[in-house]
Formats: sequence, C-alpha cells, structure tokens
Amino acid sequence: MSNSFTLTNISQLVTNNSAIGEGDLGVITNAAITVTDGIVSWVGQASEADSSVLKTDVGGRSLIPGFVDSHSHLMFAGDRSEEFAARMAGVPYSAGGIKVTTEATRNSSDEQLRIGAKRLIAEMHESGTTTVEIKSGYGLDVATEERSVRIASELTDEVTYLGAHLVAQEFSSDADGYVELVVGQMLDACAPHSSWIDVFCDRGAFNTAQSRRILEAGIAKNLKPRIHLNQLEQGDGIAMAIELDCASADHLTFLTDDDINALAASDTVAGLVPGADFSTRAPHYPRGRDLLDSGAVVALSPDCNPGSSFTTNMPLMIALAVREMHLTVDEALFAATMGGAISLRRDDVGHLSIGAKADFALLNAPSYIHLAYRPGVPLVSTTWKDGNVIFTKGDLA
Ligand code: NIG
Ligand code: FE
Repeated sequence: MSNSFTLTNISQLVTNNSAIGEGDLGVITNAAITVTDGIVSWVGQASEADSSVLKTDVGGRSLIPGFVDSHSHLMFAGDRSEEFAARMAGVPYSAGGIKVTTEATRNSSDEQLRIGAKRLIAEMHESGTTTVEIKSGYGLDVATEERSVRIASELTDEVTYLGAHLVAQEFSSDADGYVELVVGQMLDACAPHSSWIDVFCDRGAFNTAQSRRILEAGIAKNLKPRIHLNQLEQGDGIAMAIELDCASADHLTFLTDDDINALAASDTVAGLVPGADFSTRAPHYPRGRDLLDSGAVVALSPDCNPGSSFTTNMPLMIALAVREMHLTVDEALFAATMGGAISLRRDDVGHLSIGAKADFALLNAPSYIHLAYRPGVPLVSTTWKDGNVIFTKGDLA
C-alpha cells in the first residue's frame, strides 16, 4: 500500500526546476507538496492539492530542497581548537596540521569514529543537509584508511577515498614511496567501500604529477575522481583535473582567469568551501562571482573537518557566499542544493521535481532569503529525508 502525505500552506516552495516555478529556483508561492513512498509525487498551488491525502499545514513557512554537501571529512578523532586559537593569533595555516588528527584517528576505535561522524551528521540534519559525501584521509595507513571508508559507507552512499590527504609521517623522506602505497595496497583495501577518489594537490601535500598518478590509479579501479586544489597557493592542477574529468575541483581560493575559463568550459564543478577561507583567515575568498559569470557550475560546502573548517552549517556558507563572494541569494541556494548534486553527479537530489527524493527542509521563515538575511540563526524547523522526518524542533503543530 502506498504511503502519502501533503505539506500545505508553504509560502515559498523552492523546486530548483524553472519549468514548474519562477526563476532559476523554480519558486512556487502558496504551495503544497505531496510525497508518496519517499518520492515527490506532486507539487503545485496549495489550492490544487489532492484533498484525499492527509495534509499538514506548515503555517506559511518556506520549504527548500535538502542541502547536498559534496565535501566533508567526518572520519576523524581528536581536537584542534588550540591550533585554531593560535591561528587567530597569527600562526599561518598549513597542510601539516593533518598530522595531529592522524595520530588521534589511528588511536581511535571503530565505534569512536562511528559515533563522531554520526554526531556531525545529526548536526547537518539540524541545519537542513540531507545528502553528504564523506572522505577518509586522517588514517594515512592501510588499516585506518580502510576503517574510515568502511565506516563511512555505513553512513552514506557517497564515500571518498582520500589516502592522499598528506604524506604519512613514516614516509616523510619518501613521498613517492607513500604515493606507491596509496595507489597499491591502500587503494585495494579502500576501493570496495568507496565511489570516489580524491587528492589534496597543494603546497605541503601532493604535486600535480603525484596527484595525476593517484587519480588515474583510482579511475582504473572504477572510482570517480574529485580533487582539492589551489587552497594554499596558485597551482597548475586545474588542466589535469579537467582532463581526468574530475566531478569537482574544490577550494579554488587561488584561480587565474584561464583557470576560470577552463572550468567554465568543462564538466568539472567548482566546489567552493568558504568556511575554510573563513576559519584559516585566507587572504581572500574564491572568485565565486567570476566563476558564475563565466558559466561555471558552483557547489557550496562547509568542508567540515577538524583543521581548516570545523562547521557543518550550510546556511552559514550561503551567507558567506552572498556577503563575501557576491553570489545572489538565489545563486547561493542553488549552489548549496543543485550545485552539490551536480558535483556528486546525482539527479535524484538537490531539487523537488516530481520523481525526486523527498529530501527537504522547512524554514522558520516566510522566504528562503532569510538564509542569508539572518546569518547564524538556526532557521530549520524540520528536515525530511526519503519522506521521513530526520530532524524536528517540534514547532510544527
Ligand atoms: O579541506 N585541504 C585539505 N584538507 C582539509 C583540511 C585538513 C586539515 O587541516 O585537517 C580541507 O581544508
Ligand atoms: Fe576538504
């Protein structure tokens, strides 16, 4: 027997489908949405909703697609708050901080890793995120990388093997030896639990040639590539990332005009993570406005990790993208939903067309603009995934 419900009296329903509502966000005002067996089965004017389906009146709130977080590092243990405090007092950020987390992660049990990641996923649900990609990368040895992707695969379908996050300390004088481990035994252990392969191509981590070798090895094992690059300096990895058809190139704090044009002409999404620029006090934010003006697809993510950006909060990324990167509110919301979905090459999430997964968040606000207009305010009332409530403040009645 099918299981349906309708939410009605929605002030603004963001569908991200311009064929069924206003503008690029496909906004329907005075709307209703019907869900059947976890899938969106109808959207439209509230006055036209099927009267035989059980209705909940949401009291003039707005409803948006669940955020699609395409970049997170949730498999870790330990705390680096002192490093953050020192940074704010003037110590520069470097890739080397990853080592501190690696030691704690190696020493943690499976259950500690699982509980830590679940807690962060619960935080994500509270701020409206319904799909999350999770990376390994704080093990840097075969056993801990394997544990990281295996546990991540219990929590999401979007698991990324990031053995190439930093050269492990045991290999500090033999980076190429570490690359061999990453593309050999470690890849063999991690590939069965992963869909994606990633590499940190930047100063203090891996160079472009090493990054190419790592991504090509993953591709040969049927993993799809994505990449961290140009966070710490202007590198030369964009052309390689595009040539290998990386689904996304993330960070991009440093970009040339040529890089921007190349991304715009490619299928590689520009993954912007302004939380990292904020929390590392980067010299500037990525050129989000220029990327969009040139025709690139942009995704936004908090890049939750214990070093450069310890936040899970997508609405904060929307506020930063609008305030600091000059995206319009509509562009920022699209980047946090559809942008993330495109970055994960998914067509079933990030929008609320008929047939999409019933993943959405109800805001305690008459307009989605409040996501940027009310920075730092926890606006999400209730979050649904596959038609099930996964978070609620209990304020719907
Ligand atoms: O995405 N840039 C590389 N990796 C993480 C941060 C790693 C860390 O400092 O622990 C990031 O910012
Ligand atoms: Fe990252």
